[in-house]
Amino acid sequence: MKQYNVGILGATGMVGQRFATLLAEHPWFRVKVLAASPRSAGKTYEEAVGSRWAMTVPMPESLKGMVVRDLNAEKEAIASEVDFVFCAVDMKKDEIRALEESYAKLECPVISNNSAHRFTPDVPMVVPELNPEHIEIIEAQRKRLGTKRGFIAVKSNCSIQSYVPALHPLREAFGLTKVLACTYQAISGAGKTFETWPDMVDNLIPFIGGEEEKSEQEPLKVWGTIENGEIVKATVPSITTQCLRVPVSDGHTAAVFASFEKKPTKEQILELWQNFKGIPQELELPSAPKQFIHYFEEDNRPQAKLDRGLEGGMAVSVGRLREDTQYDYKFVCLSHNTLRGAAGGGVLLAELLAAKGYFD
Ligand SMILES: NC(=O)c1ccc[n+]([C@@H]2O[C@H](COP(=O)([O-])OP(=O)(O)OC[C@H]3O[C@@H](n4cnc5c(N)ncnc54)[C@H](OP(=O)(O)O)[C@@H]3O)[C@@H](O)[C@H]2O)c1
Repeated sequence: MKQYNVGILGATGMVGQRFATLLAEHPWFRVKVLAASPRSAGKTYEEAVGSRWAMTVPMPESLKGMVVRDLNAEKEAIASEVDFVFCAVDMKKDEIRALEESYAKLECPVISNNSAHRFTPDVPMVVPELNPEHIEIIEAQRKRLGTKRGFIAVKSNCSIQSYVPALHPLREAFGLTKVLACTYQAISGAGKTFETWPDMVDNLIPFIGGEEEKSEQEPLKVWGTIENGEIVKATVPSITTQCLRVPVSDGHTAAVFASFEKKPTKEQILELWQNFKGIPQELELPSAPKQFIHYFEEDNRPQAKLDRGLEGGMAVSVGRLREDTQYDYKFVCLSHNTLRGAAGGGVLLAELLAAKGYFD
């Protein structure tokens, strides 16, 4: 496989640090640029991150001495030095939208973890196992932007990465009509640790700004279809959610209830989960989990602490499948929010795009 030079915009943040650890040894991608705000620019990566390093593994030696660049002021230079960038920044939505579009217009593709472009109709929002065909919209987007190489592709919000994969094969086989999901989300999803957010120890906060809207709307785009150069959202299932912040460092859990046009048997559901494979598994992309959905028979699994790291944090764990009195079935899902749900999902999307020639 060809090697690509990459940049990380927002490299000093929580998701950026994940990108740094995942990419330091990546077989296809070489980190050439680390960029962040003017506060970090000009310092080495080690100095700029300082005590904010939140990963359980040490900062990669190869990146420690790299000088952090200013992602706004040095756009042209950065875009000319790399084949594409990963982007995870904490800025105002309209600023992020403009930033990502300006990199794309400089012919530098952007793989984004931010929500700013998730509902731009010609920007694909991809979970590589579920809707890889949406990357075909990139041709229409390039026409709109007037670019030859540049484009924006985004990954979905971390909250939906746990339950939408489990619902996906059931939706295709049995027609999903109604979903209720309550999510129990880790503090790293807010870019925090227990050190930086001590109020979360022994606590639960029943509100995460904007999360319920994302959790209800984003699955419909993932399940949408390409029509006339736009991704048109699916109209079913109807989805309702409640999203809570819980005292867990990493790993978002979802308690899910679902009803179908044709109610499957429990065995049919388990068989679909067991056999579910997507393009990442078929192409054996470097970050793809071998088994995407792992089902646990034990009543007390999946557990965030025990199971979030399954297959490098890229698999989805499911358990407690049983019939419900109001919906057809209920079950519990878990995924690692900063791996599968953020940086890992972004890297897997980039691998899919690389394998399909979108960076050439
Ligand atoms: N954490 C998660 O689990 C998760 C999951 C999915 C998506 N996301 C999304 O990913 C993005 C980043 O999240 P995070 O948790 O990594 O945030 P974070 O830890 O607060 O990091 C923010 C990054 O943005 C940079 N930044 C902030 N203001 C800037 C400015 N005015 N100009 C240029 N750079 C600026 C920071 O640079 P300095 O260090 O120089 O200030 C830092 O690198 C957000 O859009 C978030 O919604 C997060």
